Amino acid sequence: MRRVSVTGERIGLRDVTRADVEALHTIYGDPEATQHMPFAPRSVAEVCGLVDQAMEAAAAEPRRLYALAVVDADRRHVIGVARLRVDPDLPHSAEIGFGLHPDQWGRGIGTDLVRLLLSFGFKQLGLHRVWGARSPANLPAQLAMLTAGMVEEGRIRHHMHTPHGWRDSIVHAAIQDEWTER
Ligand SMILES: CC(C)(COP(=O)(O)OP(=O)(O)OC[C@H]1O[C@@H](n2cnc3c(N)ncnc32)[C@H](O)[C@@H]1OP(=O)(O)O)[C@@H](O)C(=O)NCCC(=O)NCCS
Repeated sequence: MRRVSVTGERIGLRDVTRADVEALHTIYGDPEATQHMPFAPRSVAEVCGLVDQAMEAAAAEPRRLYALAVVDADRRHVIGVARLRVDPDLPHSAEIGFGLHPDQWGRGIGTDLVRLLLSFGFKQLGLHRVWGARSPANLPAQLAMLTAGMVEEGRIRHHMHTPHGWRDSIVHAAIQDEWTER
């Protein structure tokens, strides 16, 4: 099994474990942190189920899903979540998703997180394309992805069904041979 441990200057990424459920729930269960996500805030039991799925996916061969905890510099506290899913039919390409606890917002950590995910995808996994889809209203996610080098490619209409109805997505992507580590 390929375990993930990525270290950046201010944050790191590692595989989630059962011990992370409570910390992950402070993000997945938070109405503000999930306002642009296509689901209602999750219960503790739902987060437990997500962690079980993540651990099962981590053991799969080949590994397609990386559901990761974002940890602070001393690697003691979980401050966010990140996902990278390799497309089974297009294994050169993966979709990323990410979120931080609201206490962490506005200090450049979200941008660092996107940079770290791109570096992980291109350098460690050898991907050619990494993309992400955001709500059209999600300005911080837009700016974080643009600053990290993910070009805006266009709109997928009614991409997601949310508790409030259909939602369009704006797609951002980075291509390996255009990407430079920032
Ligand atoms: C998206 C998210 C990770 C950004 O994290 P962050 O640490 O606040 O991001 P940064 O501090 O790196 O800021 C990124 C940019 O957004 C801007 N920004 C941050 N919060 C903002 C706000 N509330 N309003 C307007 N702009 C904002 C910053 O100024 C920065 O712009 P700049 O690059 O021009 O300076 C965070 O808002 C989050 O976790 N949101 C909930 C989950 C989510 O929406 N995930 C994205 C799914 S695609």
